[in-house]
Amino acid sequence: MFEQLQLITADPILSLMAACRADPDARKVDLGVGVYRDDHGETPVPAAVRAAEAALIAQQRTKTYVGPAGNPGFNAEMEKLVFGAAHPVLASGRLKSMQTPGGCGALRLGAELIRQAAPATVVHVSTPTWANHVPLLSGSQLQLERYPYFDASTGGVQFAALLGALEKLPPAAVVLLHASCHNPTGADLAPDEWRAVLELVKRRRLLPFIDMAYQGLGEGLEADAFAIRLFAAELPEMLCAVSCSKNFGLYRERTGALHVINSSAQAGDAALSQLVRLARGMWSMPPDHGAEIVRRILSDATQREAWAKELEAMRVRITSLRHELVRQLRAHCPQRDFSFIARQRGMFSFLGITTEQVRALRVQHHIYMTDDSRINIAGLRAENLEYFARAAAQVLAA
Ligand SMILES: Cc1ncc(COP(=O)(O)O)c(C=O)c1O
Repeated sequence: MFEQLQLITADPILSLMAACRADPDARKVDLGVGVYRDDHGETPVPAAVRAAEAALIAQQRTKTYVGPAGNPGFNAEMEKLVFGAAHPVLASGRLKSMQTPGGCGALRLGAELIRQAAPATVVHVSTPTWANHVPLLSGSQLQLERYPYFDASTGGVQFAALLGALEKLPPAAVVLLHASCHNPTGADLAPDEWRAVLELVKRRRLLPFIDMAYQGLGEGLEADAFAIRLFAAELPEMLCAVSCSKNFGLYRERTGALHVINSSAQAGDAALSQLVRLARGMWSMPPDHGAEIVRRILSDATQREAWAKELEAMRVRITSLRHELVRQLRAHCPQRDFSFIARQRGMFSFLGITTEQVRALRVQHHIYMTDDSRINIAGLRAENLEYFARAAAQVLAA
């Protein structure tokens, strides 16, 4: 059976990671993989997570199944974190939540629900979008199309083109939107732009599917959820895929949630029953460890505050790196405007250089980024910003 399978080339990000790991040069800079790093180049386990995990291990008496919808306490805490504790949708009975294996599991489960409801649905994703959106959504046999999003000439969003494209979509088309910290561009919509998108979504009867993988790492925990909360207050239906990988540092624990808003509590019960069946067919039950850690942190005011403080420090570090990077690039490459990097949010930006220049940075300066020049800002450190800017100046001048 398997003899006929064709070898497919490895994901370029994996080979980039391997090449960087194998590079013995002490100056090497890893801007490839999308994980948060501190000023020592490490991806730490937040102290609040370590404390909750220690308590969990000391107190847990059983590892019996939790059920296909996951840890109910986690789901309830995530609803409050994502929508805000006072949001009317929480008490409406219309919001249904499933714990999922990471944000990826939530994206896939949401796609499966859409297919179950309407198999001919087309999902519209931004140009560009996170590369894994494509296999996650099209793996559910949904058709994918693109809408214009990033404006490489300004480093912002091509907002008029985006609205124009959404305006042409038929009712019930699904629009995948990034809540904040757009991956890979760092270009987010402003509050007024979100309001205009909401107005259009309502008028054209589109279904938003909002992906939030970086809550707290853009403008802050509340501000990053602005669009979700705004949409949830006004729309009959929407889906949100949420990840705890970055903001809780729980990457390998596969912790996330799918939130589905339904037109009525009754429709919600039906959707939840379908979600449970779909989850049974994919992973049966999600892993509990990360979810129970999150539940413990979010349900205890002191631990929640400690976590929020650590998250804020991560956010501030990324923001100040953005500003410092612009300053260094201005000093070393004055002929080119990189100020867009300071206007963007979250971990990623496109440097906007050619593939040849990306490769020259890799070969000549041990600086690793994907060929499209996406950089993970958190991969920089105070002590290598200048090295990075000088190297960029050299390859730009060559
Ligand atoms: C835009 C986006 N969505 C979703 C995810 C899902 O992450 P995970 O499945 O690790 O929670 C990521 C992770 O990088 C992401 O960047």
